[in-house]
Amino acid sequence: MTDKKASMSLPGGNFDYPVLEGTVGPEVIDIRKLYGQTGMFTYDPGFTSTASCESAITYIDGEKGILLHRGYPIDQLAENSTFMELSYLLLHGELPSKKELDQFSYTISRHTMVHEQLASFFRGFRRDAHPMAIMCGVVGALSSFYHDSTDITDPEQRMIASHRLIAKMPTIAAMAFKYSLGQPFMYPQNSLSFTGNCLRLCFGVPAEPSEVNPVIERAMRRIFILHADHEQNASTSTVRLAGSSGANPFACIAAGIACLWGPAHGGANEAALNMLREIGTTKRIPEYIARAKDKEDPFRLMGFGHRVYKNFDPRAKVMKATADEVLKELNISDPVLDVAKELEQIALHDDYFIEKKLYPNVDFYSGVILNAIGFPTDMFTALFAVARTVGWVAQWNEMIADPDQKIGRPRQLYVGATQRDYVPVDKRG
Ligand code: CMC
Repeated sequence: MTDKKASMSLPGGNFDYPVLEGTVGPEVIDIRKLYGQTGMFTYDPGFTSTASCESAITYIDGEKGILLHRGYPIDQLAENSTFMELSYLLLHGELPSKKELDQFSYTISRHTMVHEQLASFFRGFRRDAHPMAIMCGVVGALSSFYHDSTDITDPEQRMIASHRLIAKMPTIAAMAFKYSLGQPFMYPQNSLSFTGNCLRLCFGVPAEPSEVNPVIERAMRRIFILHADHEQNASTSTVRLAGSSGANPFACIAAGIACLWGPAHGGANEAALNMLREIGTTKRIPEYIARAKDKEDPFRLMGFGHRVYKNFDPRAKVMKATADEVLKELNISDPVLDVAKELEQIALHDDYFIEKKLYPNVDFYSGVILNAIGFPTDMFTALFAVARTVGWVAQWNEMIADPDQKIGRPRQLYVGATQRDYVPVDKRG
């Protein structure tokens, strides 16, 4: 803490509030005593000026386009790290030694299977169910299977639940995919990497051996790393809010999945590819740019803009390079990639997008890659959820261990009717 104070001149007098300093990034005004002292709340819908917690996991400088996990830049992690190493880093704060990494990877691999009975849950869903609908339900249902890891006051149980969630999420997402195809569920193969196992679960069939293409595996590893955590985004805040009431971790992650599904958040990767397909050809780009700028039209360029980044999303740069790599390896010439690149260039030079600092975000190119790999669009957000689970559990663990943690309970500016007397139905006009 600094000695700095923020002085506020309010109707009840002058009040000083402590200014808290992080290791990097904007200082924050600690207004915890504001209501008690003044009887006033602050008003900040969308939390655009509100820090909801203290965290040491992820740092974003939106103006400069910087994303650090535990201090390490995202591009270095995407280039050099494995998903298991990144998961360890997010959960434990430091890069693991070789021994720690081997132990961690082994532990995760011991949890990749789901209870056999869980398979019957899937059969209750319609064949055309969205995978995110299935994931909300099935992940929530995990709390009814793993009673031995739902005591959140026990750090050991918290870690077991975290390992289970990280390990089982690819199995569950792949089962949702297989169910939609009418193909048999695959069992995990623990000798493969986290990413290799996920690809085999999705694209393998029990009738024949399956090989994982290393270029595709590398691309998926990058996609998972790029999506693993992003500080207090909507779904992470949802997980924290759900967890603040003492709810069990499986229920909290199911809440996070529900929030991620929305098109303004994780659902944007699906929406971005659908939009690029709808545009179809570079000739139609001006029409869509005009629509995005038209205040009367609700259309937005999906995969563009971000609450925090007012510069290039550093994840989008890695994603764009990966898209080129994958399409080259698979020898695919996808007109959607041409539309994406041209659209990006036009938007980056357009005054509307320049003034509002709207740049491509992580979801702009990820759909092109996932489509080339063979995933249908409705699986995109489910794969995002697989990766983000590690961020969710890291943030959830951090919150539970925080001595300042309280139930999340925002207040409101009430604008409804004032007190009035009940009118019986026969007396209402
Ligand atoms: N296309 C056209 N105009 C846009 C866009 C866009 N994609 N994004 C923002 N704007 C405009 C918006 O109309 C507003 O204009 P004005 O100031 O004239 O009212 C201004 O830019 C600021 O937008 P905002 O909605 O107030 O900003 P926000 O921080 O609340 O929203 C966002 C951020 C990501 C929801 C928004 O940019 C958006 O809807 N983008 C498209 C969806 C998307 O790609 N989401 C993925 C985000 S990254 C991955 C993730 O978080 O899961």
